[in-house]
Amino acid sequence: MSVIILSNKKLSYKWLRFAVTGIEALDQQHQDLLDQMNRLKEMLSAGAEHDDVGNKLQELREMFMRHFDDEARRMTACGYPDFTAHHEAHQIFLEGSLLKTITDIQGQEGYDLAALIDWEANHISRFDRPMVEFLLAHS
Ligand SMILES: [Fe+2]
Ligand SMILES: [Fe+2]
Repeated sequence: MSVIILSNKKLSYKWLRFAVTGIEALDQQHQDLLDQMNRLKEMLSAGAEHDDVGNKLQELREMFMRHFDDEARRMTACGYPDFTAHHEAHQIFLEGSLLKTITDIQGQEGYDLAALIDWEANHISRFDRPMVEFLLAHS
């Protein structure tokens, strides 16, 4: 499959930062995830081997799982009332493939990296920030 990387106008995500939540450890994990997504973009741009892309995606999936576990631990320890919806959002995300394939107007198949980054950015705004607000107020 040829590699088309659908992304926003920026050539690199390196200098993007996700919205800060207020808990340093979580913000660092979000930044590490973004760094790995950026690395994935570089690999795809450079025409990396299928196996290498697969390994990177597996590594990224494991990072997401560790990060989600950390958030789940914090939510349960604090009796967070919206735990179920937040946890479910994590589970649904992990059930799908991290990198969706997509076909452009010329019919060429590629990877939609922007969708992955957008998911994470939206998730942080919609779920992580309210969670952190609660955790900070109840710690
Ligand atoms: Fe998060
Ligand atoms: Fe989350």
